[in-house]
Amino acid sequence: MFEQIERVPGDAILGLIEAFKKDTNPQKVDLGVGVYRDAKGNTPVMRAVKDAEAQLLENEMTKTYIGSHGDPRYGQAVLPLVLGEGSPVLEAGRASATQSPGGTGALRLAADFIATQLPGRSIWVSDPTWPNHLGIFPAAGLTLKKYPYVDGNNRLDFDGMLAALKQIPEGDVVLLHACCHNPTGFDLSRDQWGQVLEVLKERKLLPLVDFAYQGFGKGLDEDAYGPRLLAENLDEVIITSSCSKNFGIYCERTGCLIMVARNNEQMENIRSQVAIVARENYSNPPAHGGSIVAEILHSPELTATWREELTEMRDRINSLRRDFVEALKPYGLDEKYAHVAEQKGMFSYTGLTPEQVDRLRDEFSIYMVRSGRANVAGFSHDNLPYLAKAIAAVN
Ligand SMILES: Cc1ncc(COP(=O)(O)O)c(C=O)c1O
Repeated sequence: MFEQIERVPGDAILGLIEAFKKDTNPQKVDLGVGVYRDAKGNTPVMRAVKDAEAQLLENEMTKTYIGSHGDPRYGQAVLPLVLGEGSPVLEAGRASATQSPGGTGALRLAADFIATQLPGRSIWVSDPTWPNHLGIFPAAGLTLKKYPYVDGNNRLDFDGMLAALKQIPEGDVVLLHACCHNPTGFDLSRDQWGQVLEVLKERKLLPLVDFAYQGFGKGLDEDAYGPRLLAENLDEVIITSSCSKNFGIYCERTGCLIMVARNNEQMENIRSQVAIVARENYSNPPAHGGSIVAEILHSPELTATWREELTEMRDRINSLRRDFVEALKPYGLDEKYAHVAEQKGMFSYTGLTPEQVDRLRDEFSIYMVRSGRANVAGFSHDNLPYLAKAIAAVN
């Protein structure tokens, strides 16, 4: 039977990693990979995480199952992180947390929940979006549709987005990126979130907010503006949160599905269904990442250390964005690329065309995906002059 199975091309980013590894140019630059990098190009373990792990090693008494919703201490810590300390949603008992294998796992739980409990609804994603969104929802049996997000000048197309949302059939699901939109880096302003809220209400749409980069844009609370606004003003919201980036625990697979319902009773009903979805997928989530996050967020000292480290990462990304534009000034390209300094998060839709991306790779050993998406954390004060010169050469 297996002889009928065809090989599919490998992931574009993995191919890029391979090509980068083989490249012998000492000036080579990797802007493709999707993880945070420090000034030395490393993705280190955060100090708060190391300290939490030391405590866990000392105190862990059992490795028994943690249940389909995961470690309750993790859920208790993540809910106020995402929805805000003293959130009216939490006070009303409207929100449920289910620990998941990463943000990806939370998205799959959401997809399976929608497919089984709310059949017949399509899910609408931004065009472009994180490529995995395009796979996860159809894999669960949902129909995927797109709303515009970027215009022909490589800027946020908010008018186009809003006009499209106004045409979506009642009851459909709309996926929104909470902050640090991947792949573009274009985020909604507060005013724009307000306008989206009105359309969601008017059209009776169900928002699914993907929150993978809390703390990487403007700050932990600032980045949560959108999901909090929706959760406080709508009866029903789904949020998928990830701890991969902001705790730097990519390989520990730590995320959370947050279901917000009209009231506590409906929340408990939904929660019971989510447990089934989790059980049927993987039974229990992996424990270690959730234990780390719980250990940090339940300790004021570790929380303070973690916040400091997260601020450092965010500030570094934001200053690299400004320095990139500054480095292009001598070539008269600072205005053309000014949007890079305005975007948020790790990724930037630079506006470089596929042909320019190819030339950067072939002639300068600068690697990024052909959409022109660059990982800003791959910029460094050492490589910015080289990058700017190369970009000027292909412009
Ligand atoms: C937009 C978006 N959503 C979700 C995720 C999932 O993250 P993870 O499964 O690693 O927690 C990512 C990771 O790159 C992402 O960019």
